[in-house]
Amino acid sequence: MSLPIVTATRYVLPLREGGSLPGVVEGNDLGTYVLKFHGAGQGPKALVAEVIVGELFRRLGLRVPELKLCELDPAIGKSEPDEEIQELLVRSAGLNLAVDFLPGSFGYDGSSGVPDNATRAKILWLDAFVANVDRSWRNTNLLVWHKELWLIDHGAALYFHHSWMSAEKFTGLKYDASDHVFSTVARAVPGIDAELAAAITPDLLTEVIGLIPDEWIADGDRERYLGHLTARLADRTAWLPGGAR
Ligand SMILES: Nc1ncnc2c1ncn2[C@@H]1O[C@H](COP(=O)(O)OP(=O)(O)OP(=O)(O)O)[C@@H](O)[C@H]1O
Ligand SMILES: [Mg+2]
Repeated sequence: MSLPIVTATRYVLPLREGGSLPGVVEGNDLGTYVLKFHGAGQGPKALVAEVIVGELFRRLGLRVPELKLCELDPAIGKSEPDEEIQELLVRSAGLNLAVDFLPGSFGYDGSSGVPDNATRAKILWLDAFVANVDRSWRNTNLLVWHKELWLIDHGAALYFHHSWMSAEKFTGLKYDASDHVFSTVARAVPGIDAELAAAITPDLLTEVIGLIPDEWIADGDRERYLGHLTARLADRTAWLPGGAR
């Protein structure tokens, strides 16, 4: 299985609220996408985290905008006056990540009535598992669209991969749930722990890791992701929000 591939045909505008300067593009399939560039500050590893985490969350029943791979010819940005953006496009020639653009969506601020407590607890468990620190009230990285909650921006998760040398610490790395947008449901997390952990099978992890294109990943790194995630899954006492069962 692999992610669909589209080609960017027009650079529409930059999303300046995003630190990595993602851009809205049109694709040759008539789709509109938020493009996350491999040439941005964190490099292709941020896109690797987007794919592993986004596709894992999707398979566990959460809403994540569809992810595709996107071929970029930097020439599509030639009328864009901003030099920083020109440089980013040139650095990002080749394959980037396209996130389905959700028109009219707005940032989650707690006022919309979604999600229910079970979903909040699930999101908290999963963010703790992948060490996603980007889900605070300051920056929820949750969008409300058609009255449902959509999860975006998982590029900062799995940050152990920026230093594989010390990656074994990831296994038991604590998670600070107090900063999480759903910290108030932490006590409900141990109650869903066994079910969620059992749902994350080696086959499921292998499947989502297999979606990463070779262009973004070094030889042997797929096995490393699998090894570290499997070890963290097996040893949940250190990081489980709400305390171990
Ligand atoms: N699929 C989408 N549909 C609509 N708007 C989106 C989508 N993805 C991102 N956005 C908007 O663009 C903003 C930046 O996107 P995102 O958080 O993915 O980028 P980032 O550069 O990783 O940001 P951050 O500064 O949070 O690290 C989001 O906060 C949201 O407002
Ligand atoms: Mg963000």
